[in-house]
Amino acid sequence: MYLGLDLGTSGVKAMLMDGNQKIIGAAHGALDVSRPHSGWSEQVPADWIRATEEAIAGLQAAHPSELAAVKGIGLSGQMHGATLLDKHDQVLRPCILWNDTRSHREAAALDADPRFRAITGNIVFPGFTAPKLSWVRNNEPEIFKQIRWVLLPKDYLRLWLSGEHMSEMSDSAGTSWLDTGTRKWSSGLLAATDLEEKQMPDLVEGTDSAGTLSHELAAKWGMGRGVVIAGGAGDNAASACGMGTVSEGAAFVSLGTSGVLFAANSSYLPNPESAVHAFCHALPNTWHQMGVILSATDALNWYSGITGKYAADLTQELGDGLRAPGPVSFLPYLSGERTPHNDAAIRGVFAGLGHESERAVLTQAVLEGVSFAFRDNFEALKSAGTSISRVTAIGGGSRSLYWLKSIATALGVPVDIPADGDFGAAFGAARLGLIAESGADPVAVCTPPETSRTIEPDLALTAEYEAAYQRYRSLYPAIAALVA
Ligand code: XUL
Repeated sequence: MYLGLDLGTSGVKAMLMDGNQKIIGAAHGALDVSRPHSGWSEQVPADWIRATEEAIAGLQAAHPSELAAVKGIGLSGQMHGATLLDKHDQVLRPCILWNDTRSHREAAALDADPRFRAITGNIVFPGFTAPKLSWVRNNEPEIFKQIRWVLLPKDYLRLWLSGEHMSEMSDSAGTSWLDTGTRKWSSGLLAATDLEEKQMPDLVEGTDSAGTLSHELAAKWGMGRGVVIAGGAGDNAASACGMGTVSEGAAFVSLGTSGVLFAANSSYLPNPESAVHAFCHALPNTWHQMGVILSATDALNWYSGITGKYAADLTQELGDGLRAPGPVSFLPYLSGERTPHNDAAIRGVFAGLGHESERAVLTQAVLEGVSFAFRDNFEALKSAGTSISRVTAIGGGSRSLYWLKSIATALGVPVDIPADGDFGAAFGAARLGLIAESGADPVAVCTPPETSRTIEPDLALTAEYEAAYQRYRSLYPAIAALVA
């Protein structure tokens, strides 16, 4: 039996999987995000532990004997968060999350140092970890002085689970301190942010073992001794392991809080100019590219909050047939944008409103806005040397058929819906737990799910979608000029 733990932004998911990769059950623990100022986004690490305990308690209640039989655990987590610990492993301040853009000035300053792009293969985005540390140094020097360890969110869970300070390549590639090509910390880049390599966890591959479960927690959950904890992965690479997106040519689109267009690469293909992320994959000697939209389902959830209607009810109101884009455009930049703009200051907009712009019209515009943001990412990956001929859809937003039709038409490629099942980050993490514990071949384990249905682009609407996409693109510079 294997346990996958995915520390997401809105909750922790725990999934039990048997040795034949059959899912036995899953449970959740909820998390909130605190936004004390515009552009800020924080969580208290103790809440991650609480939510993980809740999720595992859910599994224990439903499947006690299967939970007790766990031999390997895999960890997945929201990327980039700066979890700062003192020499007693005490948390020094709330974790600054991936979608927090307060450090945009510090990010720009680091990005202006050519070593960062040359060594990491990426723009230093405000959401990445290094500029957050510069922000803490500049604004909270008393805290900066006490930092003994900088951990990524899932690696803080590992510390709680095993007592080890360890990380792995895929998540560490999002810190701006990793030499992504050689898969090692860069002491030069750490020094550029007044840090040393000893403040960083040791690195393994995601498929390697990185700790064993403490006796105390093993006893609490009824498990035996020596439960292996895999290196694991950042949530996007973990999802890729769940989706079998591990070899050249495979790609997925993830409609979660953030939106991600992800492609696996057999070599390291950096192209920072396009704002594409080029990271290590969770498998040895494998890399990946991805474009990241900061607000995907988050945009619909925001609109759901405003209208007081559940997101699912809003999308149902549109029906299943794809509508031609109307005059209303929506830019989903609620917390700035990464790919392709790298702009922390930009904010969202509805444009083209009229008296007739009722709720459903705006829902349609929100969904289209996110589809067009994916199209921007598609073009960015293309310019970075990756051509995508079809994508598989995952994430909560992929339950909306309307949204998938809109994405297929905006990208001009078929979107595959996996056969019933749950192939997300928690499943990918459980697979990494299996590989680390059993020594199985990673590519043989990380196979793609069967496709239950393929959504083809709606060719009758291609021209109207293209025109609406061009209008969407022309809005960004206009809004950017206003915000600047
Ligand atoms: C990736 C990113 C997000 C988070 C969401 O670079 O910032 O996808 O990993 O959890």
